[in-house]
Amino acid sequence: MSQAGVRRRVYANAEEVADAARDWFVDRAREAISQRGRCLVALSGGSTPKRLYELLAELPQGTIDWPKVELFFGDERDVAADHPESNYRMVRLALIDRLATIQPRVYPIPCGAFPPEEAAHRYEELLHQIADGPNFIFDVIFLGLGNDAHTASLFPGTRAIHEHSRWVVANEVPQLKTWRVTMTAPLLNAGRDVAFLVCGGNKRWALDRAEDPDRQPNLYPVQLIQPAEPAWWFLDAAAETGS
Ligand code: 6PG
Repeated sequence: MSQAGVRRRVYANAEEVADAARDWFVDRAREAISQRGRCLVALSGGSTPKRLYELLAELPQGTIDWPKVELFFGDERDVAADHPESNYRMVRLALIDRLATIQPRVYPIPCGAFPPEEAAHRYEELLHQIADGPNFIFDVIFLGLGNDAHTASLFPGTRAIHEHSRWVVANEVPQLKTWRVTMTAPLLNAGRDVAFLVCGGNKRWALDRAEDPDRQPNLYPVQLIQPAEPAWWFLDAAAETGS
C-alpha cells in the first residue's frame, strides 16, 4: 500500500492492532482536548474495533478526559439500540458501560426509534447543531473495511456513494436486504485523523482495491475516503498477506 509508511502499520495479530490503535487514539484525544477543548470521534461498527473499544475502557482513570470526548457513529443498522446487530449496543457493552462514572457524551444514530430516512435527517440535524461553523470536523474517525471494499455503510452499487453534500443519509443495501444509516464521504473526508482498522486474510482483496489506481468508487467505495491528511491503516499480518 503506498500510504506514507508511518501511516501504514502492520502488526502480528488483531490484539496488537487494537493495542496500537488505542495508543494512537489516546495521543489524538489528548491533543484535541488540549487544543480545542473537546474531541469529536466517529466510531466504526462491525467486529474489528470491538477489542479497541474494550482496551479504551481499561485505560487507567485520567488517561483520557472522557467528559470532553463526544462519541458519534459512522453508521448504524436499521435496528433498535438493544438489538444484537446494533453498532451502538456493541460500543455500549465494550466501552460505555465499562467506563462507569467518567462518561463521554454519546450520540447514537436513532435507528429503531425512527425509519431510516428520518433517523438520518435527525442525526444530520444534530451534527449541524454541534458543529463549530459550516463544516463538521471530527478529530478522529475510525473506519473498518468490508471484504467487498465497503466502509461505513457505503456499500458497492448503493446510492449513498453518490451523495456529495449531505453528511448523513439512509442507504438501501440490496445485497444485505436491509437499510442502513451512514455518514457520507464528504463528512468522513473532513476528518482530521481517519484510521482504518483491518484484520483478517479475507480483507486482502479489499485492501488492494483501496489502493488500486483504477478508481471505481461505485464498485470499491473505500476509494471514496480521501481525507486531506492521508488515512492511517492499522493492519494485522493476515490482512497484509491475505493468509
Ligand atoms: C458496520 C461497519 C462496517 C464494518 C465493515 C467491517 O456497521 O458493520 O460500519 O463498515 O466496519 O463491515 O466489519 P468487520 O470489522 O466486522 O470485518
